[in-house]
Amino acid sequence: KEIRLFSPATVANVACGFDVLGFCLDTIGDEMVIRTTEAKGIKITKIEGYDLPYEAEKNVAGVSALAMYNALDPDCGFEIEIYKNIKPGSGIGSSSASAAGSVYGMNVLLGSPLDFTALTNFAMKGEALASQCEHADNLAPAIFGGFTLVKSAKPLKILELPTPDDLYATLIHPQIEIKTSESRALLPKEIPLDHAITQWANVGSLVHALHTSDYALIKDALHDVVIEPHRKQLIPHFDAVKTAVLKASALGCAISGSGPSIFALSKGESTAKDVENAMRNVYANTAIDFETYVSKIN
Ligand code: HSE
Repeated sequence: KEIRLFSPATVANVACGFDVLGFCLDTIGDEMVIRTTEAKGIKITKIEGYDLPYEAEKNVAGVSALAMYNALDPDCGFEIEIYKNIKPGSGIGSSSASAAGSVYGMNVLLGSPLDFTALTNFAMKGEALASQCEHADNLAPAIFGGFTLVKSAKPLKILELPTPDDLYATLIHPQIEIKTSESRALLPKEIPLDHAITQWANVGSLVHALHTSDYALIKDALHDVVIEPHRKQLIPHFDAVKTAVLKASALGCAISGSGPSIFALSKGESTAKDVENAMRNVYANTAIDFETYVSKIN
């Protein structure tokens, strides 16, 4: 038996929700083929797109697959083929797409014995290999779809959030690599209380705005006073992109995950496309190559 699946890219943090909020993109992702084998164990048999390790223990898709495999001890083995479209170190959940895809596919082939929360828990083992930390804010939207909130990592509890009908994400991916582990190492261990108050007020407001389709409140809440000031210096032209997209009527703009990708949210597809042009114009005048994507969030 085999399954071919699309494992989506994801935007984590969503400005104010560091390690907690995330949403899934439907226009970019990896493809994977998972196949049952008579021989026991997990084997990665093909990787295309990027140069990644074939040893299951060193590959995020392999590590998450092994965690699930060892827990379930099924009477078959699995082969995994990975066709990577998401560049590692892009800030759009490259490692999560791999870690989520392998466990999702294996679960389907086994007759779906596990729920999405259990799958996310196993996928976190793979994610930890890449970022040296078991966070689920990219994995949850990759596995559940849509917009998610990680209420707690231990025990894992994921909330699925509703989204307004006309909410779009525009994303620019400058072709430079930022390792999540390095981008996390930059962050302070403690934050001032007034920043914490602003941040949790914004997270609460954003969640309320998603529930009530209140675009003005989304705009008001999409700010990150805790993480962005430390990380934005890693991303060339971040401030110029932000200024340009707000001028093009984006609701807000922030770092996608740990960068270098930058995302903006907009009401309506035509605004999201104007925002895409604004992002492209900033980078067109630089030596850095880039890709842009527009996705409906649903
Ligand atoms: N929440 C994580 C971080 C996401 O910002 O470090 C990494 O993609």
